[in-house]
Amino acid sequence: MTAPLRHAEPIVVQVALAERAYDIVIGRGLLASLGARIKALRPGACVALITDETVARHHLAACEAALKSAGIECARIVVPEGEGSKSYATFETVCEAIIAARIERGDLIVAFGGGVIGDLAGFAAACVRRGLDFMQVPTTLLAQVDSSVGGKTGINSRQGKNLVGAFHQPVMVIADTALLDTLPKRQFRAGYAEVAKYGLLGDAAFFSWLEANWQDLFAGGPAREHAIAVCCRAKAGVVARDERESGERALLNLGHTFGHALEAGCGFSDRLLHGEAISLGMALAFEFSARKGLLAAAEAARASAHLAAVGLPTHLKDIPGGAPGVDALMDLIAQDKKVRRGKLTFILVRGIGRAFVKNDVDAAEVRAFLAEKFS
Ligand SMILES: NC(=O)c1ccc[n+]([C@@H]2O[C@H](COP(=O)([O-])OP(=O)(O)OC[C@H]3O[C@@H](n4cnc5c(N)ncnc54)[C@H](O)[C@@H]3O)[C@@H](O)[C@H]2O)c1
Ligand SMILES: [Zn+2]
Repeated sequence: MTAPLRHAEPIVVQVALAERAYDIVIGRGLLASLGARIKALRPGACVALITDETVARHHLAACEAALKSAGIECARIVVPEGEGSKSYATFETVCEAIIAARIERGDLIVAFGGGVIGDLAGFAAACVRRGLDFMQVPTTLLAQVDSSVGGKTGINSRQGKNLVGAFHQPVMVIADTALLDTLPKRQFRAGYAEVAKYGLLGDAAFFSWLEANWQDLFAGGPAREHAIAVCCRAKAGVVARDERESGERALLNLGHTFGHALEAGCGFSDRLLHGEAISLGMALAFEFSARKGLLAAAEAARASAHLAAVGLPTHLKDIPGGAPGVDALMDLIAQDKKVRRGKLTFILVRGIGRAFVKNDVDAAEVRAFLAEKFS
């Protein structure tokens, strides 16, 4: 399998959730058709367009022009960029702005940005007037393959990330892959960790394809749309089978137990972006699985080698300023996952594309593994 040679027609991925079913439309240059698509979906609807300052600088004019060309009335709500906007304060500002713009049932909230905007705007949509329809127009790779699909929305509590939120499915997701051309390389790479995750957790053929085609994906070739569609299809399938995360959806957390601990240990700072932490977390999950004899060391090395080839961190020493220590990491893992009688739940692997949930992992064994990594 090689990359497609040219940009095709938009790809549509359906999320099969009965009366909450919706389409994810993926293609280069789709933003220009946003107004027409909204008009077809919600004739006569007004729009509250929620975005951040950075996305606004790059793409707001084109987005508003697309709405205007379809004759859609639009209120603009621009918040500061970054995780800090997933706060009670910004949530309040956004809700008040939606109400002030007289957005009602039958109108539409459009979340135009990365995962921060999707989570914040989606949660505001879930709450204002007890639920307004919303559309995701994701502008980061992470948002196009992960956060815009599945209906999780929310903000951060002072006591932890994403602790206040709701499940609220969008009515449509429009992923314009050209928007990613302005994304800083480091952000793109971090999002790519989640792309690789879909191969590593359940699709070995996709992982091989990524090994051969990742450069085209980074360069904005047609491999980009194909890869995003594969990821959305994978997540949409899991979400449709397990909307509220009681079983299979847990597999999407491959690399996230180690990853979250590393992210938290670095204070959720610029030192380690989420995707970078997940890259490290996946490399560790593969190594830990190999150590337990679940797969050959060479296969674990192959998984890490690809992440390293695109420039993602795979060793604790890759973290600028050094990794949090073993004790700190074990404390954070325990907080994240709740240790039950010294046992932890982990997503482990029997090979590339063969992840499974293991819920009786010995905390002492994890500690010994991490201690080895530091020695
Ligand atoms: N709801 C879910 O299922 C889910 C899943 C994964 C992550 N998340 C959440 O997503 C958030 C992370 O998302 P993210 O990585 O997209 O972060 P983000 O939204 O903060 O975007 C990253 C940075 O890129 C900038 N940016 C966005 N689009 C751009 C573009 N096209 N060109 C130039 N700059 C652009 C943003 O302004 C920001 O500075 C976290 O809050 C995380 O909790 C949610
Ligand atoms: Zn993630």
